[in-house]
Amino acid sequence: MVTIAITAEGPDEPRVAVSPETVKKLSVLGARVRVQSGAGVRSRFSDDTLKAAGAEIAPTAAETLAGAGILLKVRRPSVEEVRQLKSDAFVAAILDPYDKDAIAPLIRAGASLFSMEFMPRISRAQSMDVLSSQANLAGYKAVVDAASLFGQALPMMMTAAGTVPAAKAFIMGVGVAGLQAIATARRLGAVVSATDVRPATKEQVASLGAKFIAVEDDEFRAAQTAAGYAKPMSAAYQAKQAELIASHIKGQDIVITTALIPGRPAPKLVSAAMLQSMKPGSVIVDLAAERGGNVEGTVPGQTVEAAGVKISGPLNLAGTLPGNASSLYAKNLYAFLELFFDKKDKSFKVDWNDEIIKGTLVAKDGKIVHPNLAST
Ligand code: NAI
Repeated sequence: MVTIAITAEGPDEPRVAVSPETVKKLSVLGARVRVQSGAGVRSRFSDDTLKAAGAEIAPTAAETLAGAGILLKVRRPSVEEVRQLKSDAFVAAILDPYDKDAIAPLIRAGASLFSMEFMPRISRAQSMDVLSSQANLAGYKAVVDAASLFGQALPMMMTAAGTVPAAKAFIMGVGVAGLQAIATARRLGAVVSATDVRPATKEQVASLGAKFIAVEDDEFRAAQTAAGYAKPMSAAYQAKQAELIASHIKGQDIVITTALIPGRPAPKLVSAAMLQSMKPGSVIVDLAAERGGNVEGTVPGQTVEAAGVKISGPLNLAGTLPGNASSLYAKNLYAFLELFFDKKDKSFKVDWNDEIIKGTLVAKDGKIVHPNLAST
């Protein structure tokens, strides 16, 4: 029987790669689940709850890892952790494999490394998509945080003492996070507009009751890759986009930026000049902060003020809702691990040709095997 180990994350990561629900489900698949004591506490999963669901609780990381065949983590594990696993072990986590220096020693440790953020965007893999499950929570929290930083009401209120106008919210980048940000801002009563470079988003924005703002030229019509992501746009498009954004953004109270292009720095969409044109007291939450930010002046991990505009560059927003984030992340991992188990005889089998397994496998037997990393 394969042992699945879940150790505690570092001090900056409140999430955990397991939940009481997935302990039960993984046990049913035919695995032994061993969790380091206290690993779930920040997600409100106590040792007792996990134990009641069927997990073994081990007092230390070393005792959790000893002899395990699978390690589940949120963030990239340390080399020491991987070395304590079985020699042919599997590791699944958000590995951030483009960070060459950090990933190289892990690769040398020899385990099969699966990068959950490389999950192919196919319908069979939707339940395993960690970027979606976490981005959805981040999109929600970005609006809640922005509303709090804004310090004024969002909905229009007609009272005997006068009318409070509705706040205007502008969402830049309408992927998973952006869609949830639109929905949340609408629920809070803001007047919402949104922009993206992928044409498919136009209808999605309208269906959520927001106004779509974009340069809709031929380049826009071809901006979505087969994988569902945005392409980097040409300098000419960026100039047209900047002109449109500049005229729209000056009337906005809250701006949420979420624009990303896989494997590249985040596109800069809000310039210093645009910030100057905004009303003092406006708020920007830059969800792309981790990848350099969409806004000139974003400081990752901080809230700063520029030209009277508050700019927040949160890191790991999903992690500020750790119970929800861990539950969804653990469920993504469970759905992924289901691929490795034969439901009939409860044995552990790997089909190395499966599109999802091939799509997420970064390294095996000490070597890089993923095409995205071939040149690294
Ligand atoms: P993402 O996090 O990579 O990017 C966020 C948004 O920024 C995207 O909508 C992108 O088009 C936009 N963007 C990039 N450059 C921009 C620019 N210069 N200006 C304005 N916007 C810009 O995207 P995310 O959230 O991961 O979603 C991408 C797509 O994948 C969506 O269509 C989503 O529905 C789809 N998807 C499919 C899944 C599946 O089939 N398993 C699972 C999850 C998402």
